[in-house]
Amino acid sequence: MKQPPFPSDTNELYLPGIPLLAPIAGHTDLPMRLSARRHGCRYAFTEMVDAGSLVFGNHKTNSLLIARDPSEEFLGIQLVGSEHDILAKAAQIVNQHHFDVLDFNLGCPAPKVAKKGEGATFAVKRPDEAVRAFEVLVKNSNIPVTAKTRIASETDPEPTVKFCLALQNAGAQAITIHGRLMKNFYSGPVFTGIIREIRRTLTIPVIANGGIMTQPLHDKLLLDTECPNAMIARGACGNPWIFREIAQKKIQPPTLREFMDEMRLHFEGMMHFYGIENGLRICRKTLLEYLRGRGFPGELRASVSFLNSVEQFETMMQRIAEGPSPRYYQMLEQNPDMERRLLP
Ligand SMILES: Cc1cc2nc3c(=O)[nH]c(=O)nc-3n(C[C@H](O)[C@H](O)[C@H](O)COP(=O)(O)O)c2cc1C
Repeated sequence: MKQPPFPSDTNELYLPGIPLLAPIAGHTDLPMRLSARRHGCRYAFTEMVDAGSLVFGNHKTNSLLIARDPSEEFLGIQLVGSEHDILAKAAQIVNQHHFDVLDFNLGCPAPKVAKKGEGATFAVKRPDEAVRAFEVLVKNSNIPVTAKTRIASETDPEPTVKFCLALQNAGAQAITIHGRLMKNFYSGPVFTGIIREIRRTLTIPVIANGGIMTQPLHDKLLLDTECPNAMIARGACGNPWIFREIAQKKIQPPTLREFMDEMRLHFEGMMHFYGIENGLRICRKTLLEYLRGRGFPGELRASVSFLNSVEQFETMMQRIAEGPSPRYYQMLEQNPDMERRLLP
C-alpha cells in the first residue's frame, strides 16, 4: 500500500494516527511482519530479544530474531534484561545492526521473565533500578531508546505517571503503555484514563496499547487516551488486514480469495525463512490464528495442530476454499456487533 512520506520537520518518531505492530514473542518474526506490511503496516518491532541471549547466545537463533528484510521501512528491536553490563553490550550489538528504535521491555508478565526480575516485575517491584537499567541502554545506544510498560494501578495514575516521567528524564523518546495490570496478563478491560493521564503529563509521545481488535476499537483507544498512536498486538495475529482497515477508516475484512492468498504467502514466507522442517512446526499457531473466528469447522482447525507436510497444507487449503460454514455468514447478519473477519 502507498505510504505517506516520513516527517522531516518533526522530532516525533511516529506519524500521528499510524498504528504500530507490537513486539509479540513467538509471532512478530520476519514473515509475520512482511504479511502485515503487505497491508500497510509501517512501524513494527522484533519479538522480545533477551539481552543475555543476544550477547552470549546462539548465533543462528539470534540472527533469526533480529533479521530485517530490506523492504522494511521502520523496524524497532525490543530487548529485555536487567544487568547493566549485559544491557550495555546488547545495545552495542544493536548498534552494529540496522534498527530504527531500541525498545526496552518493562511490561512482560511471563513467568520466565518475572523469575529473573525483568519485564513488568522490574517496573513494578524495582522501578528505580529499572530506570537506571534504562539509562544504561540510552548511554550505549546510537538510536532512539523507548520503553514499553504497563499501568501500575487501575485507579491511581500517580505510580505509572511517576515511573514514566523518570523514564522520560532518563532519555526515553517514546513510551508505550499497555493499559492492564501485570497480574491480569492480557485479559480484562484496558484502563484508558490512566494512559490519558500519562499522555497529558509527558512531553514525549505516548503510545496506547491494549484491546485493539478492529478499526473502530483503534480509533476509540486514540480518542479515549488522547494518544497520537496506538499499538496493536493480538488484533493483528492472523489478521494483517487490520492495518488496511485503520488506514481506510472502515471495517473491511478480507474476501475468501484475499484471505487464502495471504495465508499462502505467509506460509511460504515461513517455509523460506525457517526451512521446511522448522517452518512446518512453527507455522501451526500462525495458521490457527488465521482460522480463528472465521467460521471454519473445529476438525479443520484441529488438523492444523498435526500439520506435517506441505501436501497437508495444500489439502487444508482445498478445504478452506469451500468457505466457512454457511452459519458463519448468517451469524454475522444476525449479530451486527460481531467482529467481522471474513467476507464471502
Ligand atoms: C503471546 C504474546 C506474546 C507477547 N510478547 C510480547 C513481547 O515480546 N514484548 C512485549 O513488549 N509485549 C509482548 N506481548 C504483549 C503485547 O505486545 C501487548 O502489549 C498485549 O498483548 C496487549 O495488546 P493487545 O490487547 O492488542 O493484544 C505479548 C502478548 C502476547 C499475547
